[in-house]
Amino acid sequence: MMISACLVNPVRLTVTVRRAGLLRTAVNHTLVRTTTSTSGSSTMEIDSYAMFSRNQYDAHRLTRDMLEVSMERLASRCKLEGDAEPKQNQRRLLADLGSADGSSSLVTLDFAVRCLQSNCDTIDGYPLLNITFEEHPASDENKLKSTLESNKEWFERNGITWNVLMKSFYEPLFDRNSVDFLMSYICLHWLDTTDLPEGESISHWKTLGDENRTEACDWVHINEATAPLRVQEAWRSKLAINHLAKFLALRARELKPGAEMLLVMVGHPHEFVTLKDGTGPLTRAMKRCIEKGKLRSEILDKTVVPYFLRTVDDVRAAVIVAETFEIDNETPGAKLELIDCRSIAAVTKDDDNGMDGIFDLFWSIHVHCIQAASPTEVELESIKAESRQIFDEVYDSNEGVPSTFVACTLRRRQE
Ligand SMILES: C[S@@+](CC[C@H](N)C(=O)[O-])C[C@H]1O[C@@H](n2cnc3c(N)ncnc32)[C@H](O)[C@@H]1O
Repeated sequence: MMISACLVNPVRLTVTVRRAGLLRTAVNHTLVRTTTSTSGSSTMEIDSYAMFSRNQYDAHRLTRDMLEVSMERLASRCKLEGDAEPKQNQRRLLADLGSADGSSSLVTLDFAVRCLQSNCDTIDGYPLLNITFEEHPASDENKLKSTLESNKEWFERNGITWNVLMKSFYEPLFDRNSVDFLMSYICLHWLDTTDLPEGESISHWKTLGDENRTEACDWVHINEATAPLRVQEAWRSKLAINHLAKFLALRARELKPGAEMLLVMVGHPHEFVTLKDGTGPLTRAMKRCIEKGKLRSEILDKTVVPYFLRTVDDVRAAVIVAETFEIDNETPGAKLELIDCRSIAAVTKDDDNGMDGIFDLFWSIHVHCIQAASPTEVELESIKAESRQIFDEVYDSNEGVPSTFVACTLRRRQE
């Protein structure tokens, strides 16, 4: 084809649950989260992320209305198409892209499946589903599978089969015209880290718009106020919009006509990155470590977090670029229509663990980006300790950390 991410702890989630790995949400069924350590590298520190992902579940909760209407429309399509197809062909393909350990995905999928079923007439009318859980190939497949296997009863009760796909979502994932609904939560701000010149590491992106790396020690996140505007613009035009456009074109090819996708990504501003009074906490911590002689400046120079905080305008721009993105001499992105696109204010908060829970989530997301610059273990521990100190200085655990999410629903037009 040419194209230009044990033990289990069962928890009934009908009550407000406490401590690690459990969601503060009310659902009617028993779902299970894994709480043990498994080894394996990933784009994030997956075990820790699994413990604290609930702290950013707002991204799922605050977009449920969008998921609900997508499920209503899917139910209508199932009814319309049901009579015309033989029964064995009626298993609908749903997909969750960037599932991490699968915990948050399953809670949201439970909501989606209940919405879908409540819009169908009888138990005989429930569509049979297969759900694909997709994750980055460098992530922890065993951890994801462990969560899913722990929820065998939920899958069986709802007549759902499942599979895991360890592949980057910046590649083709499914057969053309095969997917009935696709969702992705808190993933698509991560850029395509394969978009590099031969032999280059991700720190090459610091040279975009700054060939001499004169300001490479001023930032680690491109959306920080201290990242030069020309470098930000180079990232927007050369990386961020093109990568999202490529994703959209690939998925447009794979959706069935009339099928929808719900994409929720981290938006701008997010106070993990864009603190009102200047440099983000990670850059600030690394600078302090350098001043104290605990970190070599070359580590800050090389550290880059390969994500881009998105805006509604950036999504609209990517939809336009996707229209012209060629795959096998076709432009499948031209068949996409943006039917909803919103910026949503949220808060990252941990009512049980306070600042420790907020910080542990932050660290799980970012530690591998620092490790990619090859600090020593002692240097890494210094950065972690300094970052934790800065969290106490700049955030209030009672208020939480303000964040933004951009959520959009896109549909592939009927032919
Ligand atoms: C913040 S987590 C979100 C996990 C989950 N969807 C949730 O809502 O809690 C982001 C996930 O995106 C995955 N990811 C990042 N880039 C990816 C890519 N190119 N392909 C597939 N997954 C990717 C990461 O491995 C990580 O598991």
